[in-house]
Amino acid sequence: MPLLLLSVLILVTQPLRSLGTEMKTYTEKTVPDACTLVLCSPVENGLPGRDGRDGKEGPRGEKGDPGPAGAMGPKGPPGARGPPGLKGDRGAPGDRGEKGESGLPDATALRRQVEALQGQVQRLQGAFNRYRKVDLFPDGRGVGEKIFKTGGFQKSFQEAQQVCRQAGGELASPRSAAENEALQQLVTAQNKGAAFLSMTDSRTEGKFTYPTGETLVYSNWAPGEPNNDGGEEDCVEIFNNGKWNDKSCGDKLLVICEF
Ligand code: GAL
Ligand code: CA
Repeated sequence: MPLLLLSVLILVTQPLRSLGTEMKTYTEKTVPDACTLVLCSPVENGLPGRDGRDGKEGPRGEKGDPGPAGAMGPKGPPGARGPPGLKGDRGAPGDRGEKGESGLPDATALRRQVEALQGQVQRLQGAFNRYRKVDLFPDGRGVGEKIFKTGGFQKSFQEAQQVCRQAGGELASPRSAAENEALQQLVTAQNKGAAFLSMTDSRTEGKFTYPTGETLVYSNWAPGEPNNDGGEEDCVEIFNNGKWNDKSCGDKLLVICEF
Protein backbone atom coordinates (compact mmCIF):
# COMPACT_ATOMS: atom_id res chain seq x y z
CA MET A 1 0.00 0.00 0.00
CA PRO A 2 2.69 2.55 0.94
CA LEU A 3 4.22 2.02 -2.50
CA LEU A 4 0.86 2.91 -4.02
CA LEU A 5 0.65 5.94 -1.81
CA LEU A 6 4.12 6.96 -2.76
CA SER A 7 3.30 6.55 -6.45
CA VAL A 8 0.31 8.81 -5.98
CA LEU A 9 2.40 11.38 -4.22
CA ILE A 10 4.86 11.39 -7.13
CA LEU A 11 2.02 11.99 -9.53
CA VAL A 12 0.76 14.86 -7.31
CA THR A 13 4.09 16.56 -6.73
CA GLN A 14 5.25 16.34 -10.34
CA PRO A 15 3.21 19.39 -11.48
CA LEU A 16 4.44 21.41 -8.48
CA ARG A 17 7.83 21.32 -9.97
CA SER A 18 6.91 23.77 -12.62
CA LEU A 19 5.70 26.28 -9.97
CA GLY A 20 9.31 27.03 -9.01
CA THR A 21 8.76 26.63 -5.34
CA GLU A 22 11.64 26.41 -2.82
CA MET A 23 11.62 22.77 -3.43
CA LYS A 24 14.98 21.55 -4.55
CA THR A 25 15.43 22.02 -8.31
CA TYR A 26 16.71 19.20 -10.33
CA THR A 27 18.47 18.97 -13.58
CA GLU A 28 16.70 17.21 -16.34
CA LYS A 29 19.01 14.28 -15.78
CA THR A 30 18.08 13.50 -12.23
CA VAL A 31 14.55 12.27 -12.11
CA PRO A 32 13.61 12.14 -8.41
CA ASP A 33 12.35 8.87 -7.20
CA ALA A 34 9.76 8.53 -4.57
CA CYS A 35 12.17 8.20 -1.75
CA THR A 36 14.07 11.54 -2.63
CA LEU A 37 10.89 13.62 -2.71
CA VAL A 38 9.19 12.46 0.31
CA LEU A 39 11.07 10.21 2.69
CA CYS A 40 14.78 11.00 2.23
CA SER A 41 14.95 15.02 1.92
CA PRO A 42 16.80 17.16 3.45
CA VAL A 43 19.39 14.31 3.70
CA GLU A 44 21.87 13.77 1.00
CA ASN A 45 20.89 11.42 -1.78
CA GLY A 46 21.16 8.01 -0.14
CA LEU A 47 20.63 4.66 -1.77
CA PRO A 48 16.96 3.68 -2.04
CA GLY A 49 15.83 1.58 0.90
CA ARG A 50 14.42 -1.84 0.63
CA ASP A 51 10.69 -2.14 0.14
CA GLY A 52 8.94 -2.24 3.42
CA ARG A 53 7.27 -5.32 4.61
CA ASP A 54 3.66 -5.59 3.67
CA GLY A 55 1.52 -4.24 6.40
CA LYS A 56 -0.84 -6.32 8.35
CA GLU A 57 -3.95 -7.16 6.37
CA GLY A 58 -6.36 -4.40 6.88
CA PRO A 59 -9.87 -4.86 8.14
CA ARG A 60 -12.25 -6.49 5.63
CA GLY A 61 -13.76 -3.85 3.44
CA GLU A 62 -17.43 -3.14 3.28
CA LYS A 63 -19.34 -5.30 0.88
CA GLY A 64 -19.18 -3.79 -2.54
CA ASP A 65 -22.23 -2.90 -4.54
CA PRO A 66 -23.53 -5.69 -6.75
CA GLY A 67 -21.83 -5.75 -10.05
CA PRO A 68 -23.62 -5.27 -13.35
CA ALA A 69 -25.82 -8.16 -14.51
CA GLY A 70 -23.90 -10.89 -16.25
CA ALA A 71 -24.38 -11.65 -19.92
CA MET A 72 -27.51 -13.65 -20.87
CA GLY A 73 -26.87 -17.34 -20.20
CA PRO A 74 -27.50 -20.05 -22.80
CA LYS A 75 -31.15 -20.82 -23.63
CA GLY A 76 -32.53 -23.39 -21.12
CA PRO A 77 -34.31 -26.64 -22.10
CA PRO A 78 -38.06 -26.37 -22.94
CA GLY A 79 -40.25 -26.18 -19.83
CA ALA A 80 -42.73 -28.92 -18.76
CA ARG A 81 -46.00 -29.00 -20.72
CA GLY A 82 -48.36 -26.51 -19.10
CA PRO A 83 -51.99 -27.25 -18.01
CA PRO A 84 -54.64 -27.07 -20.78
CA GLY A 85 -55.62 -23.53 -21.56
CA LEU A 86 -59.10 -22.09 -20.97
CA LYS A 87 -61.86 -23.16 -23.39
CA GLY A 88 -61.79 -20.85 -26.36
CA ASP A 89 -64.79 -18.88 -27.54
CA ARG A 90 -67.24 -20.64 -29.86
CA GLY A 91 -65.97 -20.42 -33.39
CA ALA A 92 -67.90 -18.74 -36.15
CA PRO A 93 -70.35 -21.08 -38.01
CA GLY A 94 -68.70 -23.04 -40.79
CA ASP A 95 -69.59 -22.78 -44.45
CA ARG A 96 -72.88 -24.44 -45.49
CA GLY A 97 -72.25 -28.06 -46.45
CA GLU A 98 -73.04 -29.65 -49.81
CA LYS A 99 -76.67 -30.76 -50.25
CA GLY A 100 -76.85 -34.33 -48.86
CA GLU A 101 -78.31 -37.44 -50.54
CA SER A 102 -82.01 -37.82 -49.95
CA GLY A 103 -82.40 -39.90 -46.76
CA LEU A 104 -85.42 -41.66 -48.22
CA PRO A 105 -85.06 -44.29 -50.89
CA ASP A 106 -86.81 -43.06 -53.97
CA ALA A 107 -90.57 -43.56 -54.02
CA THR A 108 -90.55 -46.31 -56.66
CA ALA A 109 -88.09 -48.48 -54.73
CA LEU A 110 -90.13 -47.87 -51.60
CA ARG A 111 -93.36 -48.88 -53.29
CA ARG A 112 -91.76 -52.08 -54.59
CA GLN A 113 -90.54 -52.93 -51.08
CA VAL A 114 -94.01 -52.37 -49.60
CA GLU A 115 -95.66 -54.53 -52.28
CA ALA A 116 -93.15 -57.35 -51.66
CA LEU A 117 -93.80 -57.18 -47.92
CA GLN A 118 -97.56 -57.21 -48.44
CA GLY A 119 -97.22 -60.34 -50.54
CA GLN A 120 -95.14 -62.01 -47.84
CA VAL A 121 -97.67 -61.06 -45.15
CA GLN A 122 -100.56 -62.50 -47.20
CA ARG A 123 -98.69 -65.75 -47.76
CA LEU A 124 -97.83 -66.01 -44.06
CA GLN A 125 -101.45 -65.20 -43.08
CA GLY A 126 -102.70 -67.96 -45.38
CA ALA A 127 -100.25 -70.49 -43.98
CA PHE A 128 -101.09 -69.42 -40.43
CA ASN A 129 -104.83 -69.85 -40.98
CA ARG A 130 -104.33 -73.30 -42.45
CA TYR A 131 -102.19 -74.46 -39.54
CA ARG A 132 -104.67 -72.93 -37.08
CA LYS A 133 -107.51 -75.05 -38.54
CA VAL A 134 -105.33 -78.14 -38.43
CA ASP A 135 -104.33 -77.49 -34.86
CA LEU A 136 -107.88 -76.84 -33.71
CA PHE A 137 -109.29 -80.02 -35.22
CA PRO A 138 -111.05 -81.71 -33.48
CA ASP A 139 -110.33 -80.64 -29.87
CA GLY A 140 -109.96 -76.91 -30.35
CA ARG A 141 -112.06 -73.91 -31.40
CA GLY A 142 -111.04 -70.39 -32.42
CA VAL A 143 -113.19 -67.33 -31.72
CA GLY A 144 -111.58 -64.07 -32.85
CA GLU A 145 -108.13 -63.88 -31.23
CA LYS A 146 -109.10 -66.46 -28.59
CA ILE A 147 -108.41 -70.21 -28.83
CA PHE A 148 -110.11 -72.89 -26.70
CA LYS A 149 -108.44 -76.28 -26.47
CA THR A 150 -109.37 -79.45 -24.50
CA GLY A 151 -107.09 -82.27 -23.47
CA GLY A 152 -110.05 -84.68 -23.45
CA PHE A 153 -109.44 -85.65 -19.75
CA GLN A 154 -111.32 -84.81 -16.51
CA LYS A 155 -109.82 -83.17 -13.43
CA SER A 156 -110.95 -81.42 -10.24
CA PHE A 157 -111.12 -77.64 -10.49
CA GLN A 158 -107.73 -77.07 -8.83
CA GLU A 159 -105.96 -79.73 -10.96
CA ALA A 160 -107.63 -78.43 -14.15
CA GLN A 161 -106.51 -74.85 -13.34
CA GLN A 162 -102.93 -76.07 -12.82
CA VAL A 163 -102.88 -77.99 -16.16
CA CYS A 164 -103.98 -74.89 -18.11
CA ARG A 165 -101.56 -72.53 -16.34
CA GLN A 166 -98.63 -74.91 -16.88
CA ALA A 167 -99.52 -74.89 -20.61
CA GLY A 168 -99.31 -71.07 -20.55
CA GLY A 169 -103.08 -70.53 -20.56
CA GLU A 170 -106.03 -70.39 -18.15
CA LEU A 171 -109.32 -72.31 -17.68
CA ALA A 172 -111.95 -71.15 -20.26
CA SER A 173 -113.75 -67.84 -19.52
CA PRO A 174 -116.53 -67.32 -22.09
CA ARG A 175 -117.21 -63.54 -22.35
CA SER A 176 -119.71 -63.71 -25.16
CA ALA A 177 -122.37 -66.00 -26.69
CA ALA A 178 -119.96 -66.85 -29.53
CA GLU A 179 -117.28 -67.97 -27.15
CA ASN A 180 -119.87 -69.84 -25.08
CA GLU A 181 -121.10 -71.70 -28.17
CA ALA A 182 -117.55 -72.79 -29.09
CA LEU A 183 -117.20 -74.32 -25.63
CA GLN A 184 -120.58 -76.04 -25.95
CA GLN A 185 -119.35 -77.65 -29.23
CA LEU A 186 -116.20 -78.96 -27.53
CA VAL A 187 -118.16 -80.44 -24.60
CA THR A 188 -120.51 -82.08 -27.06
CA ALA A 189 -117.66 -83.34 -29.28
CA GLN A 190 -115.90 -84.84 -26.26
CA ASN A 191 -119.18 -86.37 -24.98
CA LYS A 192 -118.18 -85.64 -21.38
CA GLY A 193 -121.39 -83.99 -20.10
CA ALA A 194 -119.83 -80.81 -18.68
CA ALA A 195 -116.55 -78.90 -18.34
CA PHE A 196 -115.18 -76.50 -15.69
CA LEU A 197 -115.10 -72.77 -16.42
CA SER A 198 -112.52 -70.46 -14.78
CA MET A 199 -114.96 -68.42 -12.63
CA THR A 200 -115.70 -68.95 -8.85
CA ASP A 201 -117.39 -67.16 -5.91
CA SER A 202 -114.74 -68.44 -3.46
CA ARG A 203 -113.77 -64.86 -2.54
CA THR A 204 -117.32 -63.61 -1.84
CA GLU A 205 -120.24 -66.06 -1.71
CA GLY A 206 -122.73 -65.34 -4.50
CA LYS A 207 -120.33 -62.96 -6.35
CA PHE A 208 -118.69 -64.87 -9.23
CA THR A 209 -115.44 -63.41 -10.65
CA TYR A 210 -112.80 -64.23 -13.28
CA PRO A 211 -109.31 -65.33 -12.03
CA THR A 212 -108.34 -61.65 -12.28
CA GLY A 213 -111.00 -60.75 -9.65
CA GLU A 214 -113.06 -58.93 -12.29
CA THR A 215 -116.88 -59.43 -12.07
CA LEU A 216 -118.65 -61.26 -14.91
CA VAL A 217 -119.32 -59.43 -18.20
CA TYR A 218 -121.39 -62.35 -19.60
CA SER A 219 -123.29 -65.32 -18.05
CA ASN A 220 -125.52 -68.16 -19.17
CA TRP A 221 -126.90 -69.67 -15.93
CA ALA A 222 -129.35 -72.54 -16.12
CA PRO A 223 -132.77 -71.73 -14.60
CA GLY A 224 -132.56 -71.56 -10.75
CA GLU A 225 -128.80 -71.36 -10.82
CA PRO A 226 -126.52 -70.49 -9.16
CA ASN A 227 -128.09 -72.06 -5.99
CA ASN A 228 -125.01 -73.04 -3.95
CA ASP A 229 -126.58 -76.47 -3.46
CA GLY A 230 -125.51 -78.01 -0.18
CA GLY A 231 -123.77 -74.75 0.66
CA GLU A 232 -120.60 -75.79 -1.12
CA GLU A 233 -120.92 -74.90 -4.77
CA ASP A 234 -118.22 -72.30 -5.51
CA CYS A 235 -117.22 -73.44 -9.05
CA VAL A 236 -119.03 -73.27 -12.44
CA GLU A 237 -119.69 -75.99 -15.04
CA ILE A 238 -120.89 -75.62 -18.65
CA PHE A 239 -123.25 -78.29 -19.97
CA ASN A 240 -123.32 -79.66 -23.51
CA ASN A 241 -126.36 -77.42 -24.04
CA GLY A 242 -124.18 -74.42 -23.15
CA LYS A 243 -125.98 -73.66 -19.85
CA TRP A 244 -124.07 -72.93 -16.61
CA ASN A 245 -124.48 -74.41 -13.08
CA ASP A 246 -122.62 -73.65 -9.87
CA LYS A 247 -120.90 -76.91 -8.80
CA SER A 248 -118.66 -78.36 -6.12
CA CYS A 249 -114.97 -77.65 -7.04
CA GLY A 250 -113.97 -81.17 -5.96
CA ASP A 251 -115.97 -82.92 -8.68
CA LYS A 252 -114.02 -84.11 -11.81
CA LEU A 253 -115.07 -82.46 -15.07
CA LEU A 254 -113.65 -82.03 -18.64
CA VAL A 255 -110.65 -79.64 -18.86
CA ILE A 256 -110.85 -76.91 -21.51
CA CYS A 257 -108.12 -74.27 -21.53
CA GLU A 258 -108.18 -70.84 -23.16
CA PHE A 259 -105.15 -69.23 -24.91
C1 GAL B 1 -126.33 -80.25 -8.63
C2 GAL B 1 -126.56 -78.82 -8.99
C3 GAL B 1 -127.64 -78.26 -8.17
C4 GAL B 1 -128.90 -79.03 -8.41
C5 GAL B 1 -128.64 -80.49 -8.14
C6 GAL B 1 -129.87 -81.37 -8.46
O1 GAL B 1 -125.28 -80.79 -9.39
O2 GAL B 1 -125.35 -78.07 -8.71
O3 GAL B 1 -127.81 -76.88 -8.52
O4 GAL B 1 -129.26 -78.87 -9.74
O5 GAL B 1 -127.58 -81.00 -8.92
O6 GAL B 1 -129.59 -82.69 -8.17
CA1 CA C 1 -125.93 -75.51 -8.47
